[in-house]
Amino acid sequence: MSQTNKNKLSDLFSGFSKLNYNERLKALNDVGLINDGEQNYLKSGGLQDISLAEKFVENVIGYFQLPLGVATNFNIDGQDYLIPMAVEETSIIAAASKTAKWVRENGSIHAEIKGKEIIGQIQFAKVKNFEAFEKAILQQKNYLIEIANREVAFGLVNRGGGVTDLQIRKLVRDDGYSMAVIHILMDPCDAMGANIMNQVCEYLKEPLQTFTGEKVTMCILSNLVDTKLTCVEVVLNKIDPELAEKIEEASLFAELDSYRAATNNKGVLNGIDPILIATGNDWRAVEAGIHAYASRDGQYRSVTRWRKDGPRLIGRFEAPIIVGTVGGVTTLHPSAKLAMKILGVNSSNDLAKVIGAVGLVQNLGALRALTTVGIIEGHMKLHIKNLSLGAGATEKEMPFVVKQLEEILALRKRISLSNAIDVLNELRKQTNH
Ligand code: MEV
Repeated sequence: MSQTNKNKLSDLFSGFSKLNYNERLKALNDVGLINDGEQNYLKSGGLQDISLAEKFVENVIGYFQLPLGVATNFNIDGQDYLIPMAVEETSIIAAASKTAKWVRENGSIHAEIKGKEIIGQIQFAKVKNFEAFEKAILQQKNYLIEIANREVAFGLVNRGGGVTDLQIRKLVRDDGYSMAVIHILMDPCDAMGANIMNQVCEYLKEPLQTFTGEKVTMCILSNLVDTKLTCVEVVLNKIDPELAEKIEEASLFAELDSYRAATNNKGVLNGIDPILIATGNDWRAVEAGIHAYASRDGQYRSVTRWRKDGPRLIGRFEAPIIVGTVGGVTTLHPSAKLAMKILGVNSSNDLAKVIGAVGLVQNLGALRALTTVGIIEGHMKLHIKNLSLGAGATEKEMPFVVKQLEEILALRKRISLSNAIDVLNELRKQTNH
């Protein structure tokens, strides 16, 4: 996307949520985020060609369609972004857009990546002599890195990455044996790196066995990539001090208590997973990495932290977000390609920064709601439409059912599918008489 079009995003943001479906697509087309062909592709329901599905997975019977929406108002390090999100849960996109607007008007978002290597693991379940094993590997370390780069990771080396280090770890077993694990560190450039890392590990198995006389049990990359972290900071310069304090208290709850941390982090992932899915990235890998990182000191804790700082509120997110912008589904699936185009990021690091920023902003939105009006108001108001549909309301019946349910919600602060069924039955009884 050109700089001019990026600059136009702020115009696109204002009033976007009030547009109807066709107007939304036209607005995206007008600022150059999608072209006519892409607009038609979206309108016709996205990917239909089953042959691509057959290339991705086995026993294909069709495609599973998730809603694809865009979150507005994000400004990260001075750059505006429209965020594509594929997700089924009501109110996530609305909350992200609303909270990003709050931050946009009262503060800023800064993101950075610390470290650049991913980790591969080679296990030797029972080593006979750990000291000799360690010595043999240290002697051959440079050679092992060199052959891994020359024979397997040469593509990455050409792009400025590749294998950079090899570390030895000793794990204590309770049967008296020592388990040895070798960590291969590799810069995957703009790839997620799983395939190439696994190939490097497989390739090194044989020379490692030859040099050490010990036996490799298995090898695979690790999803706990504490060597490459996405760090995001949200600063709100102007905030009601009472609200800032409540958000800090809510944050402390999730920092101290694993039961709360799990829900807090689920809220963060509400922002993260939909972008991973929309851009064709491996969301299970990112989820596993984030949860493992959240438990790194032995207790599962929140991956976000909010503190009052004088008149300001400062929020931080820190966790691994390993994604790719080249290779895999991201470049093969037309919807993922389109999501990448709408997002307008060119490197895996920039993609990870945007994803982390949306996660932190989503968390802020949830904490603000939870410490003020509660989650029901924002969440259930939008959920009412789903309940009405779930009860079987027709398009004609929808406005009446929605209105009645809103009144019930305002009155009782609670709403359920059975309310929707009752309202619908009552309406049908009246209209039949
Ligand atoms: C619901 O999808 C997400 C929240 O539970 C997150 C949180 O509690 O922080 C609202």
